Amino acid sequence: MRVLVVDHPLVAHKLTVLRDKDTPSPVFRQLTEELVTLLAYEATRNVRVEPVNIETPVTATVGTGLVKPTPLVVPILRAGLGMLEGMTRLVPTAEVGFLGMARNEETLEAITYAERLPDDLTGRQVFVLDPMLATGGTLREAIKFLFQRGAAEIVCICLLGAPEGLSILEKELADANVTIVLASIDERLDEKAYIVPGLGDAGDRLYGVV
Ligand code: URA
Repeated sequence: MRVLVVDHPLVAHKLTVLRDKDTPSPVFRQLTEELVTLLAYEATRNVRVEPVNIETPVTATVGTGLVKPTPLVVPILRAGLGMLEGMTRLVPTAEVGFLGMARNEETLEAITYAERLPDDLTGRQVFVLDPMLATGGTLREAIKFLFQRGAAEIVCICLLGAPEGLSILEKELADANVTIVLASIDERLDEKAYIVPGLGDAGDRLYGVV
């Protein structure tokens, strides 16, 4: 497993506005999309490509195209949905599957409540979208599920991570073909497993409290 923190002043600036408790939902949603596009640029550095023959108005040449099947993007519902537009803006031909997961606030365990994915992911490159890597429980279950279906490589795009969750994933997935791309690794988790300083509940800030 590899961890990549995207160190860029625009990422830091947008993240700061996102963290601010006074930032309203519409701005929060817009900034989440913009941040994901910036993170996705780094996260897709090893996206699979192949040579393609084309003709420019001047001559024939060889360019670069995405290998088919194109990458599969999997937002984890609910909060990961707020990251989808930012990702597909950069990779519009990606296929999109969905995984609905929630954490039991008492046991902090991840529960899968919805799934819409191809049955066979053999050899596929999968990009998982989940804004908050807190205890790591949700991502660990999602990653296990996708590897069981045959995924060859998984890249997770998160806004924030906690050292506690990252070290659990690093232990369990040490040899797995997994990359975690983040805008920041924060200080710690609090007693309710919220990331500190964090940005609060990402789902609630994107979509309101339901
Ligand atoms: N999920 C969130 O939305 N926020 C946190 O701080 C932790 C998990």
